[in-house]
Amino acid sequence: MKKQKSRMGGGKIMASLILLLGSLAYVMVFAVINGSLGFICSMGVTVFGAVGVAKALGEQIALSYGWIIGLAVGLGALRGGLRFIEQYCNHYIAFKLLAVLRDKIFTALRRLCPAKLESKQKGSIIAMLTSDIETLEVFYAHTVSPICIAITVSTAVFLFVGFVSSWWLSLVALAGFIAVGIVAPMISSSAMRDAGVKYRACFAAFNAYFLDSIKGIKDIVLNNAGDIRKKEVSERSEELLDHTHELKYKIANATAVTEFTVSLMTLIATGVAVALAVAGVISVGKAVIGVVAIFGSFGPVIAISALPGNLTQTFASGDRVLRLLKEKPVVEKVENGEKFSFENLEVKDMSFGYEKDAKVLEDICMRARRGEIVGIVGESGCGKSTLLKLLMRFWSKDSGEINYNGNEIEKVDSDNLLDNVTMVSQTTYLFDETIEENLRIAKENATDEELEKACRQASIHDFISEMPEGYKTRAGALGDNLSAGEKQRIGLARAFLRGSGLILLDEPTSNVDSINEGIILKSLAEQKKDKAIILVSHRESTMAIAERVYRIENGKIAEVR
Ligand SMILES: Nc1ncnc2c1ncn2[C@@H]1O[C@H](COP(=O)(O)OP(=O)(O)OP(=O)(O)O)[C@@H](O)[C@H]1O
Ligand SMILES: [Mg+2]
Repeated sequence: MKKQKSRMGGGKIMASLILLLGSLAYVMVFAVINGSLGFICSMGVTVFGAVGVAKALGEQIALSYGWIIGLAVGLGALRGGLRFIEQYCNHYIAFKLLAVLRDKIFTALRRLCPAKLESKQKGSIIAMLTSDIETLEVFYAHTVSPICIAITVSTAVFLFVGFVSSWWLSLVALAGFIAVGIVAPMISSSAMRDAGVKYRACFAAFNAYFLDSIKGIKDIVLNNAGDIRKKEVSERSEELLDHTHELKYKIANATAVTEFTVSLMTLIATGVAVALAVAGVISVGKAVIGVVAIFGSFGPVIAISALPGNLTQTFASGDRVLRLLKEKPVVEKVENGEKFSFENLEVKDMSFGYEKDAKVLEDICMRARRGEIVGIVGESGCGKSTLLKLLMRFWSKDSGEINYNGNEIEKVDSDNLLDNVTMVSQTTYLFDETIEENLRIAKENATDEELEKACRQASIHDFISEMPEGYKTRAGALGDNLSAGEKQRIGLARAFLRGSGLILLDEPTSNVDSINEGIILKSLAEQKKDKAIILVSHRESTMAIAERVYRIENGKIAEVR
């Protein structure tokens, strides 16, 4: 297993996430411009109020009262329009991004599968597809633009107060913005981060435990372990509540610190303005305008002061998504590789291990050709399924050769390989679609006759026909009512439908009674005329139809019949 690399730095994650935006970045810039202008307009309403007051106090102001009121009202209305455009852009980005990110992750997964989905990180992939993407949506829609808006608005206020009122007041405003937007969040964030991390870890663990308990409820009831589970659930729920309290307490503290800083800074600004006016440095009117402008300008920095709690989580999500997008697949897809039409398979001295230094299979030699049924037996866990997956190139062998018609497997065109070799794995997944659609994933344009023929060969046609809607019955509607054997036979029917030259069957009849097994084996025997079939099974009765049988033991293979 590769060692988990430590997390990238916050700045680097943020930069990489912004690069992912692509052309949506322009929309974001447009949203930031509108958001900033909107904020400035809303401040304009109060500032023009102050201008009116300043004029009444005798300040020389070229605008008439009519103009002042008109401008204030006009800016108010404009603020509405700009806010609408900003919100529209932000939501446009957010929803587009959900689609773009999901698409990128699915593309990455397609590259990485199937090895990736077999790994132990399966759970984290599901988390990524759901919660990480949602978190990132919040990042794009509600983190980047508030930061940009805060910087733009603060700069605008700094310049406005400086030019119109006094640069001393401007400096007070600047100190306020830094205190509220940077210093206060930094002080409270370290305390909040710990509480946030603990809360989220506890929340995730609780969810996982609860979900696991629901999935396994049948086994809980069968083992009469309900009371123990219930006790554990309520203990975990208490623990979660404690963490929630702690986090809320810290958030409330942080909010109080922010509010206090804002009040303090406005108080200082008022004091400085009064002192400047008294000293005759600026007129009373200018002092009023400056103070009112500062009063209304803390909104954007308050918005960023609320961010740090989310940012740790955002960076963790961003890190996971970026890492997945960059991950190299265990097996690279071969495009425009060599093509073949299956005649024979030859495996020579092939070795493989999922982890370095722990070989599952060693020096495997085996062969199969058109017209043969080849059996593979061995104890549970000896590597039978692993061998079949290597023949499909779901994983890459470490050494030795796997040749199809003399072509080295690593050079064979990946799509061509999947057309030539079909595998029925130990468990068949049925989609929540009709039985017919479930079969058609093997061959999209199969005729009804072909479907029926494949189902007869897999000894499942009669069962399907007896259902109220036959082939149109939804598999999901049957829920767990399809037995393991029935699912297995639908899996077999899919394989027959594909019509590949080599079929790999992993325990195809383990859950099937002997009458149905007989039917399936008979159709396998009929099909072998123009195919090769490699059959993994524990059953002696199944192995009876094989021309040749290999046994895997302690990683080695031997021809036993
Ligand atoms: N994705 C994986 N990552 C790491 N180890 C794995 C993985 N898949 C299987 N193994 C291990 O490799 C060994 C061989 O597994 P495999 O599934 O091939 O056995 P099997 O012969 O098919 O067993 P069974 O008869 O029970 O199906 C086992 O020890 C198993 O735990
Ligand atoms: Mg197996």
